[in-house]
Amino acid sequence: MTEKEIIHRLKTVEKWQKLKRKNNKIAYYNTGEKVHKKQMEFHKCSKRNRWVFGGNRCGKTECGAVETVWRARGIHPFRQNRDNVFGWVVSLSRDVQRDVAQRKILEYLNPEWIEDIVMVTGKATNPKGGVIDYITVKNVFGGLSTIGFKSCEMGRDKFQGASLDFVWFDEEPPEDIYLECSMRLMDKRGDMYGTMTPLLGLTFVHRKIYLNESGDDEVWYTFMEWADNPYLDAQEIDHLSKVLSEEELQARRYGRFVTDKGMVYPEFDERVHVIQPFDVPKEWYDNISIDPGLHNPLSAHWYATDYDGNVYVIAEHFESGKPVSYHCDAIKRICERLGWKHDYTGRYTALIDSAATQRTLNSQKSVADLFYDNGILVNTKVNKDLFSGINRIKTYLKPSIGPPKLYVFSSCVNMIREIKSYMWSDGDNPKKTDDHSLDELRYYIMTKPTPPEREVVKSQILSDKERLIKRLRRRA
Ligand SMILES: Nc1ncnc2c1ncn2[C@@H]1O[C@H](COP(=O)(O)OP(=O)(O)OP(=O)(O)O)[C@@H](O)[C@H]1O
Ligand SMILES: [Mg+2]
Repeated sequence: MTEKEIIHRLKTVEKWQKLKRKNNKIAYYNTGEKVHKKQMEFHKCSKRNRWVFGGNRCGKTECGAVETVWRARGIHPFRQNRDNVFGWVVSLSRDVQRDVAQRKILEYLNPEWIEDIVMVTGKATNPKGGVIDYITVKNVFGGLSTIGFKSCEMGRDKFQGASLDFVWFDEEPPEDIYLECSMRLMDKRGDMYGTMTPLLGLTFVHRKIYLNESGDDEVWYTFMEWADNPYLDAQEIDHLSKVLSEEELQARRYGRFVTDKGMVYPEFDERVHVIQPFDVPKEWYDNISIDPGLHNPLSAHWYATDYDGNVYVIAEHFESGKPVSYHCDAIKRICERLGWKHDYTGRYTALIDSAATQRTLNSQKSVADLFYDNGILVNTKVNKDLFSGINRIKTYLKPSIGPPKLYVFSSCVNMIREIKSYMWSDGDNPKKTDDHSLDELRYYIMTKPTPPEREVVKSQILSDKERLIKRLRRRA
């Protein structure tokens, strides 16, 4: 063979390999040196309502498209695969469908797997150039799956009727379409997943998914940011960082929910500050703090502090519409379970809002008196300075040096929900709703010193503890 012939053959092999790789892109997805870990976390999660909140260009659509192709083909590596799968891909408009979700699906769908393509506009011979109605895919079990494409601008009634195995929302749909799709999944016990940049503010996705107000066990979400996408060009990041304002960066880089007024505690990150409960040494037990409420919820939390000044919120009592005696019984039960410290007569102590000293119209006694009568010695001398309190909590969530100093056990669901939804209102005050646990958190934190601003030499114990917290965080 001449040198020319060898080169020609090598070029042919190279071309053939390139084509093979292009047609089978899905086989190489996150397999090489670069792996998008957050995408894999999403694929591995077995919940039925999964969402990826992410900044722009962080890899949301890519993982939604791969998930969809895996499902249709019946080759999902982490889920029970089904035959004859029927699912929808929901985009905001037909144009966006053609340019984004549909394009990515065609990239990952090996042409040999396609049985048929039906178009809304354009030709099936060039599906990329038009708008696809649905694609039939040869399922590895021998049957045929269907990926249907829908656009939100079609309106809710075009979403009626079908029984689906899955729905993928690429970007945030209107609530009525989300609800209609939830109905479509019921028959087959299907599941939904969404990939979106939360640019619309505090919508139903914020309530139902991020805050998970109904406490649905099947709801799961993760945040993705640029740093999570190993395929993103460093120059692109650099350019985008320069042209975006701080508020825009929060949404477009980190995928955070934005509001006009903003969150009071944007420093709070559930993946960092919420940890799995562990057996807290009794020497760390510090205080209980209470925000009383009659029709509003009464919020009480148990606080522990370790020898490095880290604060742990370890237990919660949160209920509304009950008399003081009921709350005192509930608080005492939790104290008994924890082995909480009490005085020689068995009475517990706690911080409480100073307003508890005021007598109510129809009572001779103040709320504080009623707590005393029920065996809880409440201290009403709390520091209620709102701004100092908020600032100190912020420095505990994100000290100027070192790791956070405030951790909340995952069992304290109401405090976690309230921190996540605490918003500034008009003027410079936070909104006065859903702040019950946050008020008593402030009273407690104001009894603690501000965290040091200079580096302290780490003891072996502190290093071990940081390692332990990291491990608990991973499990939470
Ligand atoms: N697993 C992956 N393998 C290869 N490339 C990837 C992967 N994940 C993301 N990318 C690349 O990163 C870029 C951004 O990905 P993608 O379009 O999914 O981001 P997005 O978060 O949906 O962005 P947008 O905000 O524009 O909708 C694309 O160029 C994509 O090809
Ligand atoms: Mg996208």
